[in-house]
Amino acid sequence: MKYLIYNWKASLPESLHQWVDAVKKAQEQVGVSDTFIIAPPCSHIDVLEKEASLQGLSYQKGAQDVSAFPQGAYTGDIPAPLLTERGVLYVLVGHSERRRLHGETTEVIEKKVVAAQKEGLIPIICIGEENRDDDLTLYIDEASLFLEKGVSMIAYEPQWAIGGDAVLDPSMIEKRITLFREKLDRVGKEYVLLYGGSVSGDILSQLLCYTGIDGFLVGSASVDTTQSNIIYTSIYG
Ligand code: PGA
Repeated sequence: MKYLIYNWKASLPESLHQWVDAVKKAQEQVGVSDTFIIAPPCSHIDVLEKEASLQGLSYQKGAQDVSAFPQGAYTGDIPAPLLTERGVLYVLVGHSERRRLHGETTEVIEKKVVAAQKEGLIPIICIGEENRDDDLTLYIDEASLFLEKGVSMIAYEPQWAIGGDAVLDPSMIEKRITLFREKLDRVGKEYVLLYGGSVSGDILSQLLCYTGIDGFLVGSASVDTTQSNIIYTSIYG
């Protein structure tokens, strides 16, 4: 069963009611899945839950980030216990937008992973090269390190592909996923390898042919009502 993670980033669908209705229709068509995760902005975890339960939409709760610190005097941070209290199970850690815009280093990301794991949250580490031609070694090594530290979900997200409008070459993505797998397999742990970066209904049919991809992390397209229905249906249909 493939994973599908909708990362709304700092956005919301135009109409939450219509969005939930569209994804619920997809579930009626192709079935519900316990590997379907939605990560709204934290402010909307409960808002989404309320609308989803009104309409009978089934999903796992995700968050886009977690604090490296415990509860206490850390203004603006959201510590892991406050996420689990809201029913969150999965959390993105080390997303490139956090690394780039908030200066998150591997050291900070490691602390966030520890904080998440301590509370029983499942961290999804996001890793990917900055430029299309960059060597992947550094990134694959970082992913291996996290597997060794007990992380089981890695999202390969090339930074140049993020934003929803990158022109993707699916065979190139496949080659890079294969490179990741070759090295990650050597760690000797079970893991899930996702792909993220400009995934939309159009490109998905090609990416779905590649068995090396265990699921998809979808950003921009996931706040779009029509796309969310199409993507869900393609993955679970
Ligand atoms: P995108 O974002 O789908 O908008 O490219 C993916 C991500 O940042 O997780």
